[in-house]
Amino acid sequence: MLSPNDKKNTVLITGANRGLGLELTRQYLVKGWSVIAVGRQSSTALEDLKKSSALEVHCLDLRDDHALSELAGELRDQTIDVLINNAGTMGRTSFAEHGLEAGKFGSFNRDEWHEVFDINVCTPMRLAELLVEQVAASGNGRLVTISSMVGSMALNNLGSMYAYRASKAAVNSIMKSMAINLAPRGIIAVAIHPGFVRTEMSGPMAEIEPEESVAGMIRVIDGLKVEQAGMVIAWNGETLPW
Ligand SMILES: NC(=O)c1ccc[n+]([C@@H]2O[C@H](COP(=O)([O-])OP(=O)(O)OC[C@H]3O[C@@H](n4cnc5c(N)ncnc54)[C@H](OP(=O)(O)O)[C@@H]3O)[C@@H](O)[C@H]2O)c1
Repeated sequence: MLSPNDKKNTVLITGANRGLGLELTRQYLVKGWSVIAVGRQSSTALEDLKKSSALEVHCLDLRDDHALSELAGELRDQTIDVLINNAGTMGRTSFAEHGLEAGKFGSFNRDEWHEVFDINVCTPMRLAELLVEQVAASGNGRLVTISSMVGSMALNNLGSMYAYRASKAAVNSIMKSMAINLAPRGIIAVAIHPGFVRTEMSGPMAEIEPEESVAGMIRVIDGLKVEQAGMVIAWNGETLPW
């Protein structure tokens, strides 16, 4: 629902060209927010949304620190109410195509691990450092990383997906530390599990559509309380165990 205050708000979303990032972009635009969409490429669907003047698209390699610094410079005077680190990868094998064979024991590849940690862990860390002033300027800033329940030790009953699981556990740890370090700046940092969603990553066998996942995640973000800082929260509002 559109509230008068929503109109002034701005969200930055990474990996906005497809999947959950695209749906986040669409639903924030419907809410009347300004959206800064960031990714290594655009898409027809994202370009269609660009007919809305509230959307700006920045194409850059999210693993390129120089490009990230340039982006932060371009956004120097921009207030960012919500920063959503959404871009993510499972590496060279996805759950959609390989199920639990994805990233299984015995398939270690050092370059692949670097790639997975680069995008899933290092980019959220670096972007937060580069954009912290813009988020703090909100006075009500939210720093969100789309993580996964597979990062939870307590919920790991299946193994496999080694690099992906490890990267999501690592980024949960980062969000916990940022929740502590950035609380004095009025920023709430959290990790959010989007559910098992029908995107290219999880495939058509997944449980929910991006529309439902994103509507839930936006509700969670809208309702975030200081006590939830540092937690891993699911799209339906449930707090997940470490
Ligand atoms: N779908 C699920 O069931 C599920 C469950 C738990 C968590 N998640 C998390 O949700 C987030 C979004 O996933 P999704 O389901 O929407 O997956 P998706 O459809 O595969 O989209 C992934 C997005 O991340 C971007 N990305 C991947 N590798 C990148 C790289 N090296 N540099 C820049 N951008 C890169 C992709 O951009 P390109 O088009 O340029 O590749 C794309 O925009 C991810 O963090 C994922 O781990 C998803």
